[in-house]
Amino acid sequence: MPEPLLRQAHPEDADAAVPLLVEAMDAQALQLAGAGSLRAAWPLFRELFVGRDNRYSHAHVRVLDQGGGAVAAILAYPGRDEPALFAATRALLRGRDPSRVLPYEPESAPDEYYLDALAVAPSQRGRGVAAQMIEAMCAEALGAGHARIGLLVDEAKPGVKRLYEKLGFAVDGERMLAGRRHEHMVRPLR
Ligand SMILES: CC(C)(COP(=O)(O)OP(=O)(O)OC[C@H]1O[C@@H](n2cnc3c(N)ncnc32)[C@H](O)[C@@H]1OP(=O)(O)O)[C@@H](O)C(=O)NCCC(=O)NCCS
Repeated sequence: MPEPLLRQAHPEDADAAVPLLVEAMDAQALQLAGAGSLRAAWPLFRELFVGRDNRYSHAHVRVLDQGGGAVAAILAYPGRDEPALFAATRALLRGRDPSRVLPYEPESAPDEYYLDALAVAPSQRGRGVAAQMIEAMCAEALGAGHARIGLLVDEAKPGVKRLYEKLGFAVDGERMLAGRRHEHMVRPLR
């Protein structure tokens, strides 16, 4: 059997994985962290990544690591888990600041496996790494019994949308997220 491309993330992957995931989450990361720059959002997401019971925990992340540490990361979970993962994250953030207003902006559909965030280290981009990771996640989701895989793409990122279209994803709806319009895309797995 070939080695799997991706491995489960560990808390020790935080230094490599958190900046990648924060870049992928972009405006949403800024909103959640109440930060003015992606770098300023790192400390909050590092804490969430190291922890367990929240949406941004390492428990929901796979990394690509060819021996030198994570060079790509993907955050993914069943869509049906999104409400509970959001509620757990909101409870943590309200514990730190009870005045925080955090609206629930549903991203996924309950009947899909959801790819929440994906990023490849800048030095590794443009070589097909993201495509391989998405294929690996599709195979894993199919193996786990999911019939569809879904994701959101920011309308301001047409290059990323082209990548998803090439991989067989098609738009089936819209979502507003952190004040930006996103398209929801799905790919059937069987
Ligand atoms: C989008 C991203 C994951 C693509 O990773 P990648 O490994 O370079 O992707 P691949 O090599 O498999 O595919 C490249 C395709 O991605 C698309 N693309 C989108 N943005 C790109 C970028 N900045 N650089 C290169 N390709 C980009 C292009 O369609 C390209 O297709 P082409 O080779 O036919 O031109 C990567 O650029 C990244 O991590 N960006 C920052 C985080 C992000 O925006 N994540 C997506 C939102 S969750």
